[in-house]
Amino acid sequence: MTRDEVQDGEGYDATPYVPADAGLEALRSAAAGCRGCPLHRNATQTVFGEGDPSARVVLVGEQPGDQEDRRGHPFVGPAGGVLKRALEEAGIDPGQTYTTNAVKHFKFTFTGGGKRRIHKPPSLREVSACKPWLAAELRIVRPEVIVALGGTAGKALLGSSFRVTKERGALLPFPPPDDAGGPWKELLGDGEIHLLATIHPSAVLRAEDRDAMYSGLVADLRVAADALS
Ligand code: URA
Ligand code: SF4
Repeated sequence: MTRDEVQDGEGYDATPYVPADAGLEALRSAAAGCRGCPLHRNATQTVFGEGDPSARVVLVGEQPGDQEDRRGHPFVGPAGGVLKRALEEAGIDPGQTYTTNAVKHFKFTFTGGGKRRIHKPPSLREVSACKPWLAAELRIVRPEVIVALGGTAGKALLGSSFRVTKERGALLPFPPPDDAGGPWKELLGDGEIHLLATIHPSAVLRAEDRDAMYSGLVADLRVAADALS
C-alpha cells in the first residue's frame, strides 16, 4: 500500500511511513509523521517506544494513555507506575528495558460532558496497521524476552486468537511456530526470542482485589526475569 492509498482510505497501513534500514532515532522521527490509520487525527502526538536500545527485555503495552499522549512518552501515567514497581519487584531493572506499545497513538472518547478523555481499545485493523513500527523496533532491539502486557499486545504479537487468561505466565517461543500474527520470521529470523504474556498493569488499578492482581503480575514477570539468567 502507498501513502496515497492509505490516505484515500483504501486500507490502514503504516508500512509506507517506515524508513527501511533505519535506526531507532530515525524511526522515531518518521513515526511522528505517520498517517497509516485514522488514530493520528485526534491524538496529540505519536508516542514511540523508548529505553535501552540493547535491552534484553522489551515490554509491549496496548497504546498510550491520556498522560502518555500529552507528554509523548510511554508508560508515564498510573499504569506505568504499577509496571515499574512490579518490574523492580520481579528483579528486572526498568532502566535496562525498552518499552513500547502495539499502537502508537491514543484512541479515546470523551466523557463527563466532554471534559475527560477515556481510553478506547484499538481495533484489530488499527493494531495491524501499526504493527510495522513494532516490528521495526523488535528487529533493532532484538531482545531475549518480549513481555506482552495484556490482550492487545498479545494479539499484535501472536495473532487474533491470543487470550491472555489462557497464555499468561508461560514462556512461549517467538516467533510462534505457525508465525501467527507475523510475518515475524521474515523480520526476525528463527531466533532465540521468548515471549511472556501477562495482564496489563492498568488491570491492577481496576481490579477489586488489587493485591492479588498485582502479585499475579509480579509472578509472571519473574518468569521473564528467570529466562534471562
Ligand atoms: N497503557 C499502555 O498500554 N501503554 C502506555 O504507554 C500507557 C498505558
Ligand atoms: Fe500510524 Fe500507528 Fe498512529 Fe495509526 S496508530 S497513525 S499506524 S503510528
